Amino acid sequence: MDDKVCVIGLGEVGFPTAIYIMERGLEIWGYDIDPNVIERAKERKIRATTNWNEIPPMDTYVICVSTFIKEDETPDLSPIFDVCEKISQKATSSTLVSIESTIIPGTSKKIWKEIFNEDVKLVHVPHRFWRGDPVRYGVKQLRVIGAVNQESLDAGLKFYRDILGIPLHIVSSVEIAEMSKIAENAYRYVQIAFAEELRMICENLELDFEEVRRACNTKWNIKILEARDGIGGHCLPKDIRYLDYLAPSNTLLKAAILVDKQYREWLKTKFRVIR
Ligand SMILES: NC(=O)c1ccc[n+]([C@@H]2O[C@H](COP(=O)([O-])OP(=O)(O)OC[C@H]3O[C@@H](n4cnc5c(N)ncnc54)[C@H](O)[C@@H]3O)[C@@H](O)[C@H]2O)c1
Repeated sequence: MDDKVCVIGLGEVGFPTAIYIMERGLEIWGYDIDPNVIERAKERKIRATTNWNEIPPMDTYVICVSTFIKEDETPDLSPIFDVCEKISQKATSSTLVSIESTIIPGTSKKIWKEIFNEDVKLVHVPHRFWRGDPVRYGVKQLRVIGAVNQESLDAGLKFYRDILGIPLHIVSSVEIAEMSKIAENAYRYVQIAFAEELRMICENLELDFEEVRRACNTKWNIKILEARDGIGGHCLPKDIRYLDYLAPSNTLLKAAILVDKQYREWLKTKFRVIR
C-alpha cells in the first residue's frame, strides 16, 4: 500500500489535501518554501518542513504548488519544475507523482520525460477546490484523472480511488486532463464576462439588469450569472490566460478578458467602486 505521502505546497489547496490524506490513515509529510504555512501544518500534526533534505523518500508525492501568469501574460510553471527536480533526487520507478496544480497541456509529459526519464508513475489530477464550500467542493469531489501511461493510471487509481476514496472521471491522456482544467475555468470566466457585458448594456439603456437576468433565467436552458465587481481571485484570470496563450489568434477569450477590464473601469466611473 502507498502509505507515505508528501504534499508539496501547503497553501489553499495543499493544506486541506494533506489533512484529508492524514485523516485517511496514511503517513503524511509536507513541504513548502513558506515557513508560515509550515507552522500551520505542524499545528495539525503534519510533519512539515521548509528543508527538502528532511523529507525521507516517499511512495507518493502530491504537488499543489502555486502556478502563475507572468507580466507578459505567459504561463509561469517554474514552481512545478522546481519541485519535480527535487522529487527526482528521491524517486524510484515505483514512485507515484501526482500534479494537482493547474498546468497547460504538454507539461506533465515534458516533466516525465525530461526530469524523470520516464522512470516514475505520473498522473495529473487537477484540483477543483472551492473555499466557499470546502466540504462539497473540497478534496473529495468528482475529479478528472489523466496519466502519462497505463501503469501510471493504475497507480493513480489505486491511490485516489481505492485508498483516498475520491470519485474520478478517467480521461484517455494526461493532456486531456490538463486541458480540461483550464477549459473549465476559462468557460466560467467567459460566462461571467457575458453577464458583465450585459449589465453594462442594460444599465447604459437605463434597464434593470437584475430584472432582465431573472427574466432570461426563467428559460429552461439559460443561466446568466451575476455581474459583481469584476472577475477576481487567482485562478479564473490566470487560467483563461493559459488557454489564450495556447491559441494566440483566438477571439472569444481575448474579448472576455477585455470585457472584464472595461467592466471594472465602468464600475469605477459609474459607482466610484475601487478594487
Ligand atoms: N485555490 C483554489 O481554489 C484552487 C482551485 C483549483 C486549482 N488551484 C490551483 O492549485 C495550485 C495551488 O493553488 P493554491 O490556491 O493552493 O495556491 P497558494 O498560493 O495558496 O499555495 C501554493 C503554495 O505553494 C508554495 N510554493 C510555491 N512555490 C513553491 C516551491 N517552489 N516549492 C515548494 N512550495 C512552493 C507556496 O509557498 C504556497 O504555500 C495552483 O496551480 C492553482 O491554480 C487552486
